[in-house]
Amino acid sequence: MRHFIDIADLTKEEIEGLITLAEDIMRHPDGYAQICRGKKLATLFFEPSTRTRLSFEAAMLDLGGAVLGFSQADSSSVAKGESVSDTIRTVCYYADIIAIRHPKEGAPLLASQRSSVPVINAGDGGHNHPTQTLADLLTIHREKGRLGNLTIGLCGDLKFGRTVHSLITAMSCYEGVKFILISPEELRLPGYVRHGVLAGKNVEWVETRDLECALPELDILYMTRVQKERFFNEADYIRLKDSFILDQDKLKNTKPDLSILHPLPRVNEISVKVDDDPRACYFKQVEYGKFIRMALIMMLLEVQK
Ligand code: NCD
Repeated sequence: MRHFIDIADLTKEEIEGLITLAEDIMRHPDGYAQICRGKKLATLFFEPSTRTRLSFEAAMLDLGGAVLGFSQADSSSVAKGESVSDTIRTVCYYADIIAIRHPKEGAPLLASQRSSVPVINAGDGGHNHPTQTLADLLTIHREKGRLGNLTIGLCGDLKFGRTVHSLITAMSCYEGVKFILISPEELRLPGYVRHGVLAGKNVEWVETRDLECALPELDILYMTRVQKERFFNEADYIRLKDSFILDQDKLKNTKPDLSILHPLPRVNEISVKVDDDPRACYFKQVEYGKFIRMALIMMLLEVQK
């Protein structure tokens, strides 16, 4: 039995296999509509979510399975003081696979150690978000036709942005990838990613505070929200929240085939006027997120067409 806690739990070949499967599901959804009949997915969300939870649930329903779960901790026995361990031991009796989101870094890993069914990390605090990375990789693959030889600008909250940490881990396995890390000083990529992931790999990376200077070089711009819920001090959040706002004016000087990604939700960091620009890919990411999660559920439940 396998869990999916960290993007590094999958090899490059397995990630590429999931992308191929997701693309086949997109082309032939009817062929997969009953494949998980009789199986149940539990979504245990201890933190807010729109896309991740609903795309997991839609994914399982579109595979012919069923879903159960909760979308806030205070509607479960956690509000009475129950531990994650006991919650997981309970849910294993009712579900064949579990997707868990939790504000504490490492909670999904702990859950996987207590679980008799596959556990998927649907986001743990400011740490990792590997299924968003799968959606990002599918988007990049569809937009660019490759995952290597790309210059990727990651902009915004690189400190607390868990999607950034998982995406950097995944993309650093590909040849010819260069990262431009664009953030205010206070929201720089944490040392454990900078040294632990980037230093060990043969990737080039630079840090800057200047989005406009970086833009002409980029093949991909990955914008992120400043993660309000991770700040200790509201004044710091207010000072930093509008550090970068992407608008049409800033987009004048880019490669014509730039792809703009964002895991969403967006607050202020991309003007809505950018949404109709052909370079904007963030709603495609939303769509692809369901298909890649269908592929992941099939893999972890070991069901094949
Ligand atoms: C992200 C998350 O939850 O980390 N959203 C998502 O799952 N698509 C990004 C964010 O909340 O800013």
